[in-house]
Amino acid sequence: MHNKEFSKTAPRGPVLGIETSCDETGVALLRWEPETPGRGLLAHTLYSQIKLHADYGGVVPELASRDHVRKLLPLIREALGEAGLGVQDLGGVAYTAGPGLVGALLVGASVGRALAWALGVPAIGVHHMEGHLLAPLLEDDPPKPPFVALLVSGGHSMLVQVKAIGEYTLLGDTLDDAAGEAFDKTAKMMGLPYPGGPVLAKLAEQGRHGVFHFARPMTQRPGLDFSFSGLKTQVLLAWQQSDQSEQTRADIARAFEEAIVDTLIIKCRRALQTSGTHRLVIAGGVGANRRLRAELAAAGAKDDFRVYFPRLDFCTDNGAMIALAGAIRLASGQHQDASVHVYPRWDLQTLPAA
Ligand code: KG4
Ligand code: ZN
Repeated sequence: MHNKEFSKTAPRGPVLGIETSCDETGVALLRWEPETPGRGLLAHTLYSQIKLHADYGGVVPELASRDHVRKLLPLIREALGEAGLGVQDLGGVAYTAGPGLVGALLVGASVGRALAWALGVPAIGVHHMEGHLLAPLLEDDPPKPPFVALLVSGGHSMLVQVKAIGEYTLLGDTLDDAAGEAFDKTAKMMGLPYPGGPVLAKLAEQGRHGVFHFARPMTQRPGLDFSFSGLKTQVLLAWQQSDQSEQTRADIARAFEEAIVDTLIIKCRRALQTSGTHRLVIAGGVGANRRLRAELAAAGAKDDFRVYFPRLDFCTDNGAMIALAGAIRLASGQHQDASVHVYPRWDLQTLPAA
């Protein structure tokens, strides 16, 4: 709902960004600088709940919510301290409103809403995947739309055509597991600790190329959708039938990573051709994968497209990307009324233009 008190101008002070959609509590402060948004980043803090969930082999939603309750206010104080600001200096609040775990989202939304109401500043609920998608804008020489974005996280594998900020068309999606989920489940199958993705990627560095080979799923037929569950099964069979030595585990990790990276690159190339653009943005947790980053950069140099990545810290969940996505929308006059709404499932394509 539009509130007339707040005008269509830059927020009058730094925007507080709050991320609590899953298992990281992220907070950031961003002063609005339209041309080079990254220069306006005043502070960012993150608390990861990895240790809390490790014994369970995955995120336990109720524990996640409770930990966000414990950590969010101390993190906000820490970020304000780092930036040398007081809470009264804030010009707006942005919090992740979805998609994500409902209880976890409600913590950030309630704190964000309450703060904004108390301070009399506008607040906005941010789409988590729009946050990821815009994270590369925090780097120097930020990409300008139109571009294609590959969003690869624990919950999503999507190719999105970005005509302008807020104008998103889904080109391809996963039919089953997300890329990050495939990393995590494969790692678990081979007995690696949670969260499996980064651990498996590290192990793959010791693996030998060519000892195992897995198919590149869905690349033989046209289209931009992904499917990773068959690959997971192939890995399971290879692992069960192997000697299960340390070297074998690393060799399988290497072949699995190569299969995922190849598949993603084939689909990215296809998406660039379909959309006629030469700019590719990579975001989400799997965007931190070193093989993916190196091979995409090489593919771009060869085929004349430019690849934009967020820095490693801003690939995985963080408050800075939420502060940025929120600041862009607040600066264009958007915000919502004071009631608390979260959207555990939320289609990126339903967002309004910014
Ligand atoms: O974006 P993110 O932090 O959270 C979600 O929104 O899901 O992504 C987390 C996902 C996890 O599945 C994790 O295993 C994966 O990103 N991930 C990686 C790497 N770092 C994080 N996957 C492969 N290689 C990595 N280096
Ligand atoms: Zn995420």
